[in-house]
Amino acid sequence: MMGHIDIIENEIYNSLPTEEVTEQIVIDAMRYSLKAGGKRIRPLLVLYFAEACGASAEKALPFAAAIEMVHTYSLIHDDLPCMDDDDLRRGKPSNHKVFGEDIALLAGDALLTNAFAVMLSERAVSLVGAEKCVKCARILADCAGMTGMIGGQVIDLQSEGKSVPIEIIREMHLKKTSCLIKAACMMGVVAGGGDEEAEALAEEYGTCLGLAFQIMDDILDVTASEEELGKPIGSDKENEKSTFVTLLGIDECKKLVKEYTESAISALSGFRGNTDSLRETAVKMSERKS
Ligand code: IPE
Ligand code: IPE
Ligand code: MG
Ligand code: MG
Ligand code: MG
Repeated sequence: MMGHIDIIENEIYNSLPTEEVTEQIVIDAMRYSLKAGGKRIRPLLVLYFAEACGASAEKALPFAAAIEMVHTYSLIHDDLPCMDDDDLRRGKPSNHKVFGEDIALLAGDALLTNAFAVMLSERAVSLVGAEKCVKCARILADCAGMTGMIGGQVIDLQSEGKSVPIEIIREMHLKKTSCLIKAACMMGVVAGGGDEEAEALAEEYGTCLGLAFQIMDDILDVTASEEELGKPIGSDKENEKSTFVTLLGIDECKKLVKEYTESAISALSGFRGNTDSLRETAVKMSERKS
């Protein structure tokens, strides 16, 4: 039997054209970054939340693939010279180092667009019905857009080289990272047929996990090695980024990661289905080395 990660990988690649097209270079660039791996946390959360609502993981697969596409696009753009200017991602040269800035930009755009094509595809409609597809598309659009992830990326850029109050850093983390993670959780609930109460709990779990996740990312930027992370270390310092770590220091941040992880886990008690994987994911993320 295929595991969760395998069915996610299949779903992602099946959405890309298999026949050679004239514009093949952009498909190759999309596949390059998707294939480079990564922890697949967001798509796993989609599947686990569908299961927590008593549904099968298969029902939520298009939404799992969609969120990984949006996430991968965000990483391609985040690494561009006009953004964080990082040359390594997921243990390989960044997309723009291989395909050039122009194609990397367009591959990111195409991944974002394709995510919505996948969520509104006939396959997605046949799995969960049109109404749930529309709801998931709305959640992802809101969370990835101008007052979600993009908003957070803007605050991140505007905070470079400045001393920024903690409330703004918190808002930046909530937007640039929690938004996509909470979208994954909420889409899993919607695809899995959960009610509004379950959606609210998933939002709470995702928001807290997202905060813990980004604080951990900022800690690892200081403490981990390039080999462990598969991306450059010291990137935040080099770009004079404002992070929880620059403001509070590593020890205080480790405490915060623990607190937010516990808050995420406590939101799970309201679910009827099995939440063991969601509990384990939160703990694993708080102890991660990559
Ligand atoms: C990196 O995300 C970007 C952040 C929001 C911190 P991940 O740590 O999930 O990256 P991959 O998908 O495993 O490469
Ligand atoms: C994550 O922030 C931002 C995204 C929304 C892509 P970072 O800029 O810290 O992510 P990494 O460290 O490059 O993965
Ligand atoms: Mg960044
Ligand atoms: Mg970055
Ligand atoms: Mg980082």
